[in-house]
Amino acid sequence: MPKSTASLLKARRFLEELQAPFVGREEEALVIALALISGEHAVLIGEPGTAKSALVRRAAQLVQARFFKYLLTKFTEPSELFGPLDIAALKEGVYRRVTKGKLPEAELAFLDEIFNANSAVLNALLSILQERVLYDGYTEIRVPLWSLIGATNRVPDEAELEALYDRLLFRHYVRPVREELWGELLDAAWNLERYGNDHVEPVMTMDDIKEYNKLIYTVNLSGIKSQLLRLFMIFKERRIHLSDRRKGKALKAIAAHALLNGRLHATEDDLVVLKYIAPRDLDDFDKVETILLEEVKTKDRVLREIREIEANIRSIERLVEQAGEFDPRLIEYSKSLRIARNRVENLVRNIDDDEVEREASNLIDLIERILDMISYKLNL
Ligand SMILES: Nc1ncnc2c1ncn2[C@@H]1O[C@H](COP(=O)(O)OP(=O)(O)OP(=O)(O)O)[C@@H](O)[C@H]1O
Ligand SMILES: [Mg+2]
Repeated sequence: MPKSTASLLKARRFLEELQAPFVGREEEALVIALALISGEHAVLIGEPGTAKSALVRRAAQLVQARFFKYLLTKFTEPSELFGPLDIAALKEGVYRRVTKGKLPEAELAFLDEIFNANSAVLNALLSILQERVLYDGYTEIRVPLWSLIGATNRVPDEAELEALYDRLLFRHYVRPVREELWGELLDAAWNLERYGNDHVEPVMTMDDIKEYNKLIYTVNLSGIKSQLLRLFMIFKERRIHLSDRRKGKALKAIAAHALLNGRLHATEDDLVVLKYIAPRDLDDFDKVETILLEEVKTKDRVLREIREIEANIRSIERLVEQAGEFDPRLIEYSKSLRIARNRVENLVRNIDDDEVEREASNLIDLIERILDMISYKLNL
């Protein structure tokens, strides 16, 4: 099996295993998987008790990696995150931290209440996130950090936290479980309480993630660039601001999404990742989702439209069957059928998906059969 296939299977397995014990946490799992594959940082924003911490803890168990987690308060000291000063070294006049088990040695990190970061930890955090370097007094420490996941109950409005928020490429608004799933929630939470979330076997290593990450740059993105630029314009018109950093990294996220879906070329479907990149404020999340629903021809949307058209065609089919020879309404039906055929053809243009192609071609065959039946009845 080629390495790339092996890492795809592992990434899929990770995604499934991550969401398995939770109810309605598919998107959250996707966001964490996207962050890991693309080597970016993410933040889960949501009210207390929505399984944000539990998800990230599980993600860390599923990846064999050096992991650091910490709950930030306004009073967190740099030494709590980056390690205490090495007193013995200091006596020799050397300023050094003992970083063992702390953030500078971690490959994956989880910072709960991340926007509690005070200015003493913030600056160090900013360079770690962006450059993977800890500037510390007179020294510069390269850190192995791959992805940091933050959790928070709020979106920051303090100017000094803006740079931190901007570095968290993927942002996801975790909403409470929908009413229809409350029954399932009871059972899932019961099992989590009873069996815990602890003894989880890792399904991939950091090496797997890095191997997979290299594939990002082989994904063909030419098909979606113009549509991406168009969406940037629409976001701008609707006052949803993306920093240049976020615009620039969008392709990486799109490529990671294509890979997770087993493709080496991006399609419009992959533009859904903008849902996690474009929003800034809480109400942006809904706005962006609506824009994407309106503007992006996703596979789901195209399939839904094809099925709606099919339902209409089936009712025309019945009318045609019931109509007698030379019934003048047959002319009208044939017009409607031709319009429908055009719509289906337009709908699937530029969509490269087997399921869509199959459904569209079955529908076009059906339309042709009814048109033949009409010609026969009209004696054409
Ligand atoms: N969608 C869910 N499916 C299953 N269990 C859930 C779900 N949401 C919450 N729970 C249960 O609630 C517990 C609390 O979740 P957790 O502590 O991870 O929430 P949180 O979002 O981190 O909250 P806080 O913001 O207060 O830190 C979980 O460990 C789990 O048992
Ligand atoms: Mg929590």
